Amino acid sequence: MTFVVIILSYLFGCFPSGLVLGKLFYKKDIRQFGSGNLGATNTFRVLGKKAGFIVMFLDIFKGFIVVFFPLWFNVDIPSIFVGICAVIGHVFPIFLKFKGGKAVATSAGAVLGVHPVLLIVLAIVFIIILYSTKYVSLSSMIAGIGCVIGAIIIGDLPFLIVSIAIMLILLVRHQSNIVRIFKGNEPKIKWM
Ligand code: G3P
Repeated sequence: MTFVVIILSYLFGCFPSGLVLGKLFYKKDIRQFGSGNLGATNTFRVLGKKAGFIVMFLDIFKGFIVVFFPLWFNVDIPSIFVGICAVIGHVFPIFLKFKGGKAVATSAGAVLGVHPVLLIVLAIVFIIILYSTKYVSLSSMIAGIGCVIGAIIIGDLPFLIVSIAIMLILLVRHQSNIVRIFKGNEPKIKWM
């Protein structure tokens, strides 16, 4: 059953909300516009606020719902280990030749399911950085680093292991953003 839960969680993560929403309702493949990413940020950028919020909600939901699978399927595995399966699905979706998103919203969903108070703190950190820099990518990476610090403070070992993995995934997936930030041409959000 553990294997079924892991595969199911991975498949949940694979669902490319931004791509599906864009193609179904806007006749646009968001991978061909903006940053080329299929996450919520690029959906905001390319399709607007309404679509952006829907994709953000769906991507958070993917990470959030799977952390309850061990409980529902009566499997003895730390919830956050299942959460990262959804994150891996989001980043490396089998249906899109393993070219997926940058892990931000789906990771946030998994953290929300396991340590909601920490997620609230990280969301506040995210908003403060976003408000002062206007860079979603930088805010996401700093929140990812903050998650590791939070995990150390909480003292939850499985969560710490997954937080470190998520932080590394975030940093690797944001390489192009990091280069753009240093070059000064990373797009800033205009509506905050
Ligand atoms: O949601 C990922 C965000 O941190 C950066 O996205 O589209 O600006 O590369 P993007």
